[in-house]
Amino acid sequence: MNSGRFITLEGGEGVGKTTCLEAVAERIRAWGREVVVTREPGGTQLGEGLRALLLHGEHVCVEAELLMMFAARVQHVREVIWPALARGCWVVSDRFTDSSYAYQGGGRGVPAANLRFLEQFLPGALQPDLTLLLDAPVEVGRARALARGGTDRFESEALVFQERVRDAYLERAAAFPERIVVIDASGPAGAVRCHLLAALEQRCASWL
Ligand code: TYD
Repeated sequence: MNSGRFITLEGGEGVGKTTCLEAVAERIRAWGREVVVTREPGGTQLGEGLRALLLHGEHVCVEAELLMMFAARVQHVREVIWPALARGCWVVSDRFTDSSYAYQGGGRGVPAANLRFLEQFLPGALQPDLTLLLDAPVEVGRARALARGGTDRFESEALVFQERVRDAYLERAAAFPERIVVIDASGPAGAVRCHLLAALEQRCASWL
């Protein structure tokens, strides 16, 4: 029997995650697996409502931001991710808990112990089977994000914030090398896609 797998894409601003997401989903479909593509914060009605407040709300304090991210995530796991995995689907999510470690932990300075405590509220303390971390120097990502136009609360943070986010991601990758693969996202989109799909194939081979 085929069992579902949970794959997440992570990275700082402007690393090209969203285009890579579709490439990952397409490749998994080509393997004959059903795929659910989703995102955080969001993925449910409650989560999308919280997303609007998180990205564009005014006067959101750090603790409220953290709890809203996790509120959206718990709902997302219960309503979408867990049921899809139980049906044998593969789930590909644009961001998950590593984003909270990077942005709220690294970026805003929330202690890791608080993040670990909140992680316990996720059904089954869910962790991804594989995380593809797109990594690029923050200046590169920022230039791409600005070219895209429109900035949200996170994109408009200073470069030092983005540096802390990147460092926190790389620390996570060093701590969980079996789960997190770092993909160099500083080059042209075609090359990034190639590296990403090669890593996906290599890591998923034993699950197919
Ligand atoms: P999004 O538009 O998805 O950003 P991007 O295009 O960079 O992926 O916006 C999501 C933002 O929310 C992103 O800047 C990171 C932030 N975020 C957190 O700070 N913590 C979290 O736990 C999650 C899931 C996202």
